[in-house]
Amino acid sequence: ATNRTFTMIKPDAVSAGNTGAIIKLIEEAGFKIVALKKTQLSPERAGQFYAVHKERSFYQELCTYMSSGFIVPMILEKNNAVEDFRKLIGATDPKKAEPGTIRNLFAKSIEANAIHGSDSDENAAIEGSFFFSQLEQF
Ligand code: CMP
Repeated sequence: ATNRTFTMIKPDAVSAGNTGAIIKLIEEAGFKIVALKKTQLSPERAGQFYAVHKERSFYQELCTYMSSGFIVPMILEKNNAVEDFRKLIGATDPKKAEPGTIRNLFAKSIEANAIHGSDSDENAAIEGSFFFSQLEQF
């Protein structure tokens, strides 16, 4: 079925000037952009977004990194969106990401890994609503 996922281009990729190249790959893969903005998280808001990881060793560092510059959050629509998008971005660790995936092409490290993709339909809805009002999710 046609459904939605949530993504954000992370500070390393935005500051490197890779926003346009990444959006081009996303559109060429058949995803339709439902909502898009450029914004910056405070460390506190990054902490809320990544609250599921708060017991992990990398949590503080992740919040500092994710609030270090501009990000580009988006809601995307496609048949089988969540699963197909995770295939398009590749593994969390760019060393393990398949050739041609967005993280293989653009990620700098396991932390500064260029892009986020929701891991379930439920989280896609929660994460999309973290950045976009209901009216923006037309
Ligand atoms: P993402 O899967 O989008 O959401 C969790 C993020 O935590 C992940 O991307 C990376 O940016 C970061 N992350 C995951 N594992 C590690 C790790 N071992 N060290 C540092 N950062 C990590």
